[in-house]
Amino acid sequence: MALKKYLSCKNILPNCFKPKDPSSGPKVHASKQSPSRRLSLSDISHHGSPLSLSDLSNSLISVHIFTLKELEVITHKFSMSNYLGEGGFGPVYKGFIDDKLRPDLKAQAVAVKVLDLDGTQGHREWLAEVIFLGQLKHPHLVNLVGYCYEEEHRLLVYEYMARGNLEDQLFKRYGPPLPWLTRLKIAVGTSKGLAFLHEEEKPVIYRDFKTSNILLDLAYNAKVSDFGLATDGPEGEETHVTTCVMGTEGYAAPEYITTGHLTTMSDVFSFGVVLLELLTGRRSVDKSRPGREKNLVQWARPLLKDPYKLDGIMDPRLEGQYSTEGARKAAALAYQCLSSHPKSRPTMSNVVKALEPLFDLTDIPTGPFVYIVPTQAYNEPIVQKIEEKEEKQCDEIKIEKNGGEKEEKMEKSRVPRQKGRRRRRQVKPSRSRAVYSDTDLYKTLGSSLYSPKHQR
Ligand SMILES: Nc1ncnc2c1ncn2[C@@H]1O[C@H](COP(=O)(O)OP(=O)(O)OP(=O)(O)O)[C@@H](O)[C@H]1O
Ligand SMILES: [Mg+2]
Repeated sequence: MALKKYLSCKNILPNCFKPKDPSSGPKVHASKQSPSRRLSLSDISHHGSPLSLSDLSNSLISVHIFTLKELEVITHKFSMSNYLGEGGFGPVYKGFIDDKLRPDLKAQAVAVKVLDLDGTQGHREWLAEVIFLGQLKHPHLVNLVGYCYEEEHRLLVYEYMARGNLEDQLFKRYGPPLPWLTRLKIAVGTSKGLAFLHEEEKPVIYRDFKTSNILLDLAYNAKVSDFGLATDGPEGEETHVTTCVMGTEGYAAPEYITTGHLTTMSDVFSFGVVLLELLTGRRSVDKSRPGREKNLVQWARPLLKDPYKLDGIMDPRLEGQYSTEGARKAAALAYQCLSSHPKSRPTMSNVVKALEPLFDLTDIPTGPFVYIVPTQAYNEPIVQKIEEKEEKQCDEIKIEKNGGEKEEKMEKSRVPRQKGRRRRRQVKPSRSRAVYSDTDLYKTLGSSLYSPKHQR
């Protein structure tokens, strides 16, 4: 059994700490062809490795090396007006690359993440991002446009994701809630991202799947970001890798917390937590809630197996506008993902297979019940307003189903509605009872889980 220790930033890739030759100027280490063999973190993170970052850059796919000066220009000197937020790695700023910066780099908005030199993360997380996201390209993984390392500075440049992270979108206090089909689209997208990682020739365990690490573009396409904790999965005969327990409270699998044994199934558990958050609109850990409800999995998992209780835990902000059958199937899937036995959890590709057909379910109520007083002149503007609201919702749903790029087409094919037509909330079909077997998930759950922000 290989014991992988968590390494501090100083003993990983010492070559990278060498000051950069100032005469070398801006570089483009952008390899267009796919590398034949993917370099893994362990290839270059052990002492005495002959590989340096410049060797690594030959394996990267279309990744640009930026100078600090260039990144200062595109972010307006990291101005606060471009500030997007901050996590354990450091602050993130929006930037804009114009078509004059590099001949082979198209004009685009980017997000620039700056390592906080006084913070808790370091070179190891930066390197993991470069190694994994620089070699793994998929529509549901955020695209790494480039990086910068000059002296002690470590920066990462990503494609800009206009709707920020799922945590903010799902738990925002104001504004309309995320509709059911958008939640489904996010669950399907991210499950595809994780399935891609797990099915690599050398599987990758992501290790930090949570709502704040899921980024959304304008059309709510979801992409997995933040590969700072990602690690190579077990190879050959090995069933797991043993690591020091890292992750985020409320998302990590119980067997990983208690034993440090990490498998792709740990990601499946975390996916189950996010699926549960999408269904319930509740955070995985909410200290403001009473007793058992503080921990979402502990509270909700026993209720997932009983379809009669499901309505009671669904996000009230959805106001019943979801497919009952879809919610039931998604809840059953979440239940399996959250099994305390890793072997009982589905693989991520089976998760994708289970979730995708839920798009086709049509038992979604179309809108609230509206009673229209039959006095034409007085009511027309009110009716029109309601119709407009509903039309917007329907369009949103259609766009979710078909993907953002079809938005324009859909806009044109919209059938004009008759003004003043009455609408009723659809009655949900009667439920069939199905009970799934239970296991006592949290019997073994310890409290030894540390956030990356607090343990290094
Ligand atoms: N590519 C991006 N496009 C747009 N916004 C981004 C991008 N990457 C990060 N952000 C935003 O920057 C902020 C900080 O993100 P970051 O991933 O560093 O931290 P976090 O996920 O909030 O916390 P953690 O350290 O636990 O991962 C978040 O609000 C996130 O939405
Ligand atoms: Mg993050």
